[in-house]
Amino acid sequence: MVMVLIYDTPEEAVRATAHTLVHAIGKIMPYRCCEFGAATGNTQKPLYAEMVKLWPSINPRPGRFRTWNLDEYEGLDATNPQSYRYYMYEHLHGPLKIPDHLRRFPCEPPEEYDVAMLRETAAGGIDLGILGIGRTRHIGFCEPGAPRKQKTHRATLHEPTRVDAVREFGSLDLVPTGALTMGVSTIIDLWSRIFLLAFGESKAAPVHDMLEGPIGSQCPASFLREHRDTTIVLDRAAASLLKKPTIYIQV
Ligand code: GLP
Repeated sequence: MVMVLIYDTPEEAVRATAHTLVHAIGKIMPYRCCEFGAATGNTQKPLYAEMVKLWPSINPRPGRFRTWNLDEYEGLDATNPQSYRYYMYEHLHGPLKIPDHLRRFPCEPPEEYDVAMLRETAAGGIDLGILGIGRTRHIGFCEPGAPRKQKTHRATLHEPTRVDAVREFGSLDLVPTGALTMGVSTIIDLWSRIFLLAFGESKAAPVHDMLEGPIGSQCPASFLREHRDTTIVLDRAAASLLKKPTIYIQV
């Protein structure tokens, strides 16, 4: 089931979502390690900042929070400021002092990632996690054409995705052509609870296609409508092209 929450501003959306996430993590932690799915867009930066602020309120237990990142660029090591390892260290792992062995990223061979996830979580998978959506309608780096059954794999980045990454890399020839990414199946079948955040006018068309277009590989994010517990968190601008407002909840 997909629930859509529309907030007036991204700031309100971020505050409320961070609160929900941290509270949910805090409920799991006294009993076992919480398994968290992590995305690395610009959209998530203020969310991580808010989670860091709220973190002490749950009396976190050391060793009871493990992150599973969605994706990582090919050919960048963790010291490269454009790598997702670096991003995570800066925004979440560093501030929360998450030890190295609890920070998981897809690496070679990619198919091992899903296997490791199931093994290390005693087949429970990811408890909850966050996603963003790209201009091509990707989740993680599952670009259009990504099959529903695909697990973690090597993906070739589509041109608009690389062009959007120029703002981080500085020029197109520095943007990697490939990445390792969880597949649609990894996300839909192994994550129990999903929050996808999208803010601003540039996300309006991708959000529309995700929620109101046909479900299929041409819009990988549309597969979220087959997931059992997904919350789509929007601001008004990102929701502006939705045509079925009555089924959406205005917050
Ligand atoms: C990248 C990431 C995605 C992210 C997307 C949107 O492609 N691999 O996980 O959702 O960018 O990023 P932004 O939030 O910067 O628009």
